[in-house]
Amino acid sequence: MKKLILSALTVVFSLTACAQNQDIKLPEPVKTGGKPLMDCLAERKTLRDFDETKTLDRQTLSNLLWATYGYNREDKRTAPTSRNKQEMDIIVALPEGAYWWDAKMNVLKLIAKGDFRKQTGSQPFVEKAAVNLVFVCDIPRSETGGDNQKLTEATYANAGFMSQNVYLFCASEGLGTVVRGYVPKDELSKLLGLGKDKLIVLAQSVGYVK
Ligand SMILES: Cc1cc2nc3c(=O)[nH]c(=O)nc-3n(C[C@H](O)[C@H](O)[C@H](O)COP(=O)(O)O)c2cc1C
Repeated sequence: MKKLILSALTVVFSLTACAQNQDIKLPEPVKTGGKPLMDCLAERKTLRDFDETKTLDRQTLSNLLWATYGYNREDKRTAPTSRNKQEMDIIVALPEGAYWWDAKMNVLKLIAKGDFRKQTGSQPFVEKAAVNLVFVCDIPRSETGGDNQKLTEATYANAGFMSQNVYLFCASEGLGTVVRGYVPKDELSKLLGLGKDKLIVLAQSVGYVK
């Protein structure tokens, strides 16, 4: 009996460890430096000609996510949200999997293994970007609080601030980016099992350009 309990515990322990191992703990973001703001504004632009052979290293990914929507104060973020609802979340589609970004822990939590970059868009360059960010609204946390399963103007504005943060970060780092309204939202939502509470707002491709 003792043996049975022990082996059951071992199985549970290894399954838990395995699930945890599939998440990615990102390095602390570097919150200083970069190009001067006026230079970033001068260089901000949409680029779509991604170099598919180049990936983002973990440090750059961490810096990008922090710049997009990280905590820059105890409980507030680099992008504003209407009435500070902070209902936005980011899905990070990398070659190895699709992840939720846990901003407090700076951990990428595995949603599904595999390359879903292509499925975040409908244009040919999308699959070539090193990473595709998908901005998602968690309806119960939003202003409508779940009474209305629709996106509001406030949510679109929130996503716009996040997108501009990505643009400025990319201008600073010499990366290419394009924000995208063309996202097959229903298909992607089903594919990743997002459920009815999580609505996709916009996506944004980021990567090195040719
Ligand atoms: C809300 C929004 C949605 C967009 N959707 C797409 C898109 O689905 N695909 C795309 O290639 N570009 C998209 N763009 C990028 C615009 O085409 C681009 O910003 C515009 O041509 C101006 O170029 P610039 O960003 O270099 O100033 C979108 C831009 C915005 C603001």
